[in-house]
Amino acid sequence: MRAPGEMEVFKIKKVIAESPTLTTLLFTPKHLGRWSSLVPGQFLMVWVPGVDEVPMSLSYLKKTPFVIGITVQNIGPATSALCSLEEGDKIGLRGPYGNGFSLPSKDDFNRIIGVSGGVGAASTILPMEWAFNEGFETVNLVGARNKDLILFQERWEEISNDVQYSTDNGSFGHSGFITELLTKELMTLTNRDLKRTMIFTCGPEIMMVAVKKVLDQFNVKGQFSLERYMKCGIGICDSCSMSGKRICMNGPIFTVKEIDDLREFGKFHRNRSGTLIPITECVK
Ligand SMILES: Cc1cc2nc3c(=O)[nH]c(=O)nc-3n(C[C@H](O)[C@H](O)[C@H](O)COP(=O)(O)OP(=O)(O)OC[C@H]3O[C@@H](n4cnc5c(N)ncnc54)[C@H](O)[C@@H]3O)c2cc1C
Ligand code: FES
Repeated sequence: MRAPGEMEVFKIKKVIAESPTLTTLLFTPKHLGRWSSLVPGQFLMVWVPGVDEVPMSLSYLKKTPFVIGITVQNIGPATSALCSLEEGDKIGLRGPYGNGFSLPSKDDFNRIIGVSGGVGAASTILPMEWAFNEGFETVNLVGARNKDLILFQERWEEISNDVQYSTDNGSFGHSGFITELLTKELMTLTNRDLKRTMIFTCGPEIMMVAVKKVLDQFNVKGQFSLERYMKCGIGICDSCSMSGKRICMNGPIFTVKEIDDLREFGKFHRNRSGTLIPITECVK
């Protein structure tokens, strides 16, 4: 059996073109080993031969036959190379890394609301599927800049008691921000229902800052999947450091309460060389 730190070379089993800029790659491990205990919300370090090694959330996990997958948004050299791979091409995977989302106790919570922005859906789809299969009421709010960037429509319909969409440009679903859908949804709940509701969210940091404000307003608990520039993925290089935490080891999933202590959240990122830069200077 290989340890998570060891790289395993995979042949791509299937390529799914989700949209012109979003591609899903599926793989079947030769040995189940480390892949059998994956936690939804964990990530992999993906080596693209000759280009780079980049973190990617696990977006597919099917047990019979065993298939795992990642969903990539083409925004730069490594992601562009990943999106142009074909069935039979090879890449290297390390992991799984990070903590993953946690399902709360059924005694205290009965409803999970997923708030997924853009390619953030790659991180929330598996935990929301898990919540649905474990008998939680699941509401999925899925947003993107435009219709082309809405991921996994069929999959959301299968694992949701209710699913609502939003696009910034109004090309699909609610015209406006996903946090408007979240506020509307929470306003329908009684105080008792709000206490028994947990939010799972991932998306652009500016969106998650707005989600955090709504959760604070309604006093609702939540788990956030955070992103920072990563090199090692295993707590050595410090490139993913955020207010004293390493996102790769202590996260990438943080609770609302933990986010209160991350003063860089929504304000600063680190660039490739580790320099702290205002989040407004990041392209994403
Ligand atoms: C835990 C984790 C899980 C991720 N899961 C996914 C996923 O499932 N699908 C997916 O498409 N992407 C995911 N990402 C982001 C992905 O790793 C980056 O988009 C990728 O590394 C960009 O590499 P590149 O060479 O294509 O572009 P680069 O040239 O490296 O970057 C292009 C632009 O994006 C910015 N950027 C790069 N990495 C990040 C980052 N981590 N946070 C914010 N801005 C960044 C750069 O500053 C630059 O402006 C994840 C990141 C993390 C940390
Ligand atoms: S990526 Fe190296 S410490 Fe997190």
